Amino acid sequence: MSEMIDWTSEYDIFSKEYIENPFEIWDDLREQCPIAHTDKWGGSWLPTTYDIVTKMAREPEKFSSREIIVVPPAEAAGSGAYGPAPAAPISVDAPVHTWTRRQLLPDFSPKAVDELEVFTRAWCRELMDSIAGKPEADIAVEYAQQIPAQVIATMLGVPTTMKDQFTTWVRNSLEAGLTNPELRIKTRRELQDFFMGEIIKRRESGSTSDLIGELVHAEHDGEPYPDGLILGMCGLLLIAGVDTTWSGIGSSLWHLATHPEDRIRLVQEPELIPSAVEEFLRAYSPVTMARLVNEDMEYEGCPMKAGDRILMAFPAANRDPEHFERPDEVIIDREHNRHVAFGAGIHRCVGSNLARMEMRVAIEEFLARVPEFELREDAEVTWAGGQVRGPRTIPVRINTVIGH
Ligand code: HEM
Repeated sequence: MSEMIDWTSEYDIFSKEYIENPFEIWDDLREQCPIAHTDKWGGSWLPTTYDIVTKMAREPEKFSSREIIVVPPAEAAGSGAYGPAPAAPISVDAPVHTWTRRQLLPDFSPKAVDELEVFTRAWCRELMDSIAGKPEADIAVEYAQQIPAQVIATMLGVPTTMKDQFTTWVRNSLEAGLTNPELRIKTRRELQDFFMGEIIKRRESGSTSDLIGELVHAEHDGEPYPDGLILGMCGLLLIAGVDTTWSGIGSSLWHLATHPEDRIRLVQEPELIPSAVEEFLRAYSPVTMARLVNEDMEYEGCPMKAGDRILMAFPAANRDPEHFERPDEVIIDREHNRHVAFGAGIHRCVGSNLARMEMRVAIEEFLARVPEFELREDAEVTWAGGQVRGPRTIPVRINTVIGH
């Protein structure tokens, strides 16, 4: 680790060091001060222990979700050409949070997700058909990235041919866009124009057969949802559903490409895949969200001011030795694994059933077709970091293929 940086007071979540290996930094911070502070990127606080992160997540009255990106916005929160467009429920507090979240829950219930499994599996098999025929592949780009965009496009009821465009929009919002406000604003405008067209189509047809149609025809207190709210919710589903799960699938496959003992075990005992998915979620948690402090206060000894940003480091909480034995080891049949990769409290992930299903099916189908693969020795794996951490390239050599 660099000698130069005092991580307790000048951490930089966009630095190469933090993106590539945040684990040692979190260990160091947990020991030195459970809530670090930096002035970089507009300033923020960074809690790293499981107890403090989960406690803060359960105190929405102290910590608001008005701004959940990890850098200050370049524009007024929720603004846009179609009126305020909050990404509800993730970027709103009660009471709007309560009813917008309730609106989405049935679409992500275990039963609803079960119905999507057949389609997801068929799509993974199709992707594997082209990967299995080659000696080498980039399984982040050719596989992990291809799955969630297809699934969410189907749920929203938009053409699956849009999935590459979706991926670009998502990356421009959550990766490049975080440090490039102009790109972020341009992307939001394109996304909103696209979804507005879809909303108008559903209004004309009266269709409620997909998620956009449901939102268009939903009511609160007898009134239809404003356009801006529908746009914000559609944008959230796309953004929350794609990068996160792509990163989750990617980190899992990267692990299997670099840990042959775990790969062999999952090939021989596929019934362990669900518990391996939980362990991959814990050890390589993709998502860090932000909060804003509501009022000046002293919190865990830290002088917080109203409007200060907090980075909810769920990934750091998941490596806390106070809560997980041997936290830096990936133990694919770990028994006690109450990880918080999906957050905690009122904003806990609405899409967790869907994400788990996609990760499980993606790994099952990959190993069923390609049980032996490894990272190419000359491979340069690039990781995205900041808000959502995951590998963006995983060049592998394919050693054994099963089936046609
Ligand atoms: C591995 C994949 C995923 C991870 C790690 C993940 C993680 C998270 C986390 C940590 C939160 C809490 C945010 C906070 O506290 O501010 C969250 C919220 C949310 N996630 Fe996910 N997510 C994943 C996949 C998905 C998918 C597939 C969808 C839907 C398409 C989704 C939709 C949402 C929504 C709507 C919320 C907001 C819930 C609320 O504010 O009440 N997520 N997610």
